[in-house]
Amino acid sequence: MNQYQLTIPGHVSAGENTILQLRNIIKSEEVTKVIIFTDAGVLGSGICQSIFEEVEKSGAKFHVISDLRPEPSTQDVMRAVEQINGAEGELVVAVGGGSVMDMAKLCAAMKGASYDIYDLLEDNSIMKKGLPTVMIPTTCGTGSESTFNAIVAVLEKSVKIGIVNKSMIADYVLLDGNMIRKLPPKIIASTGVDALTHVVECFTSNKANPFSDLFALEGTKLIFNNLVSAYKNPNDMEAKSNMLLAAFYGGVSISASGTTAVHALAYPLGGKYHIAHGISNAILFAPVMRANLEACGDRLALLEDAVNPNGYGRSQFEKGNEMIRRIEAVVKDTDIPSNLNEYGIGTEDIDALVEAAADCKRLLNNNCRNLTNEDIQKIYQEII
Ligand SMILES: NC(=O)c1ccc[n+]([C@@H]2O[C@H](COP(=O)([O-])OP(=O)(O)OC[C@H]3O[C@@H](n4cnc5c(N)ncnc54)[C@H](O)[C@@H]3O)[C@@H](O)[C@H]2O)c1
Ligand SMILES: [Zn+2]
Repeated sequence: MNQYQLTIPGHVSAGENTILQLRNIIKSEEVTKVIIFTDAGVLGSGICQSIFEEVEKSGAKFHVISDLRPEPSTQDVMRAVEQINGAEGELVVAVGGGSVMDMAKLCAAMKGASYDIYDLLEDNSIMKKGLPTVMIPTTCGTGSESTFNAIVAVLEKSVKIGIVNKSMIADYVLLDGNMIRKLPPKIIASTGVDALTHVVECFTSNKANPFSDLFALEGTKLIFNNLVSAYKNPNDMEAKSNMLLAAFYGGVSISASGTTAVHALAYPLGGKYHIAHGISNAILFAPVMRANLEACGDRLALLEDAVNPNGYGRSQFEKGNEMIRRIEAVVKDTDIPSNLNEYGIGTEDIDALVEAAADCKRLLNNNCRNLTNEDIQKIYQEII
């Protein structure tokens, strides 16, 4: 039997007002200075105020690094590392979506280090454990709070690349629904569908195993049962809390298994055309699963059984198809486009996209079906 591993953050708390635990974390870590990572959008939403208050109540001082940009590039990382090197602090707290959490994880491991981001791109394994981290997600998508990955855009190559090292696993995660209470519905939609791609890709991945299946299956149920309501009803706090949990499960399944061709084909759309991570995944999701259906119809059928236990008498192929139809419906019901029309990408761009996607072997190797360049081209053609 193949080996498989479960790597999860040290301490995870979920539920109402869990951010109040930050005070105890700071005390138990015996730190007196905290570095808080966030960005302008999160700061503007007002949710950081309660975090600042908690840190103050612990008696610790804090330094805020907030001029971070969404979907960080290597240059952004270099700038942020300069800032953290100039700041005093023994604990890093990230309050934000995947962009902020990825940056915080990288900077915590790079403060005072001899390697820079380009060294890490060359060889992830040189990274050492840095400052302890607390992740407080404010979107319901990436699961960065539960992975040991950080994704950076390498603008000169028009690609996004994952830095992967276990030392980046968070020490603490606080999942508090209040953090996404006022999250704009558009971001709930795109990040929520991103979380759905994580669980479905990890469940159909060549690396799927009992650990990842447990979280991916449960995450899939949570997302189908809660995403549309969290998107349409801003006050449905139960749906929102469930989405935070699902995104966390998605991250755990990524660490135990791995995403596949949806993410591989989406990265060039983010790297070159700056389409938001969740949107590019959502657009590619159903077309890639249709291309995969013959190879992983049985796995998609298991997901369909979990979401709809009343599908007696249907063949595996029918159930797999039904799961893909369900995915398309979620993308439609959350008003995410199903093609690239509005992004000005034309057939003349396909060759470069295929070349960049084919380069993302780390994820394509996880895909249940070996996709040739011709297969990848057909998928892009379908969404242009
Ligand atoms: N490390 C991983 O495992 C992993 C996995 C998938 C994706 N990612 C990366 O994560 C990044 C995307 O993260 P994301 O989708 O969470 O979005 P994001 O962090 O880029 O945030 C999107 C926007 O939402 C705003 N925002 C966030 N929370 C808010 C709130 N509560 N209220 C108001 N505005 C808020 C931000 O200011 C930003 O403008 C990409 O760079 C992607 O590659 C990382
Ligand atoms: Zn993703």
